[in-house]
Amino acid sequence: MTKGKKSITLITGATSGIGLELAKRLLNTDELIVIGRKEAHEVYAMLSDNIKYIQTDIANPAQAVEAVIAGLDDLNVQAINRVIHCAGIGVYTPPDHETSEQIDLNVSVNLLFPVLLTKALAPHIETAKGKVVLIGSVAHKGSPNMASYAASKAGLAGFARSLEAEWRGRIDVQVIHPGPTLTPMLEKAGYKVGKEGRFFLSPEAMAEEIIKVMATNKKSATIFIGAKVKSLFRRKQPA
Ligand SMILES: NC(=O)c1ccc[n+]([C@@H]2O[C@H](COP(=O)([O-])OP(=O)(O)OC[C@H]3O[C@@H](n4cnc5c(N)ncnc54)[C@H](OP(=O)(O)O)[C@@H]3O)[C@@H](O)[C@H]2O)c1
Repeated sequence: MTKGKKSITLITGATSGIGLELAKRLLNTDELIVIGRKEAHEVYAMLSDNIKYIQTDIANPAQAVEAVIAGLDDLNVQAINRVIHCAGIGVYTPPDHETSEQIDLNVSVNLLFPVLLTKALAPHIETAKGKVVLIGSVAHKGSPNMASYAASKAGLAGFARSLEAEWRGRIDVQVIHPGPTLTPMLEKAGYKVGKEGRFFLSPEAMAEEIIKVMATNKKSATIFIGAKVKSLFRRKQPA
C-alpha cells in the first residue's frame, strides 16, 4: 500500500446485519468497495457517498462475478487489500421440507459466489499482498433445521483451509465463524427468536469482535457469546 493511501476493502453483504455494522466501522479506516443488490442510493444513504458501489445479485454467481470484475475495471482498481465475504442467506426448516430452489439459493449465495469471486480476484489481492476473509458460521459443524446452510458453510471452511495451504506466503486467508446474532437474517430464514435470544450477540457486538479477529493472523476463529463467557471465566481463575 502506498504511504498515506487508505487500505482498499471489498465487502459483500454490507447492506444489512453484521456486514452493515462491519462496513460502518471500516469507513473510518478503509476505502470501501461494496457489492450488493440494493439500489445505489439506498446503500449510499446507509453508509456514505464516499464508498464505491457495484450492484449485482449474487444469487447468479457467474454473472455476478463478471459484473464485479467489470465494475472494478471501470473504477480502475488494480490492488485490493482485503476481501470480506459476508453476504449470506439461510432457511430454517427440516431437511425434508427444503425445496431444491432453496437449496440452490443457499449454495449459490453462501458458497459458489465466494469461491468464484475469490478465484477471480486473486491477482488483485496478490498485488496488494492482501487477505481474504470468509464469514462462515458455527453451523458449519452441522445444525438442526439448517442442512443446506450448514453444508454451504462447511464448504466455505474447507475452501478456506485449502486456500490457506495453497496460497501461503501469497495471500492470507481467514475464516470467521459467528455464532447466533440478532440480525434480520433470522426472520428472513423463518426462525422465531425466543428466550434463547438473550444469548445471541447484537450485530454491533459481532462486528466489533470480527474487526478484532481480522487484525490477527488467526486462520480460523469462532465468535459466540459462550466463548466470551468462558474466556472471562478462565481469566478469573487463580494462576
Ligand atoms: N445472524 C446470525 O445468527 C449468523 C450466524 C452465523 C453466521 N452468520 C453469517 O453472517 C453473515 C451475515 O449475516 P447477517 O446475519 O448479517 O444477515 P443479513 O442481515 O440478512 O445480511 C445478509 C447480507 O447478505 C446480502 N445478500 C443476501 N443475498 C444476496 C444476493 N442474492 N445478492 C446480493 N447480496 C445478498 C444481503 O443483501 P440485502 O440487504 O439486499 O438483503 C445482506 O447485505 C452471513 O454470511 C451469515 O451466514 C450469521
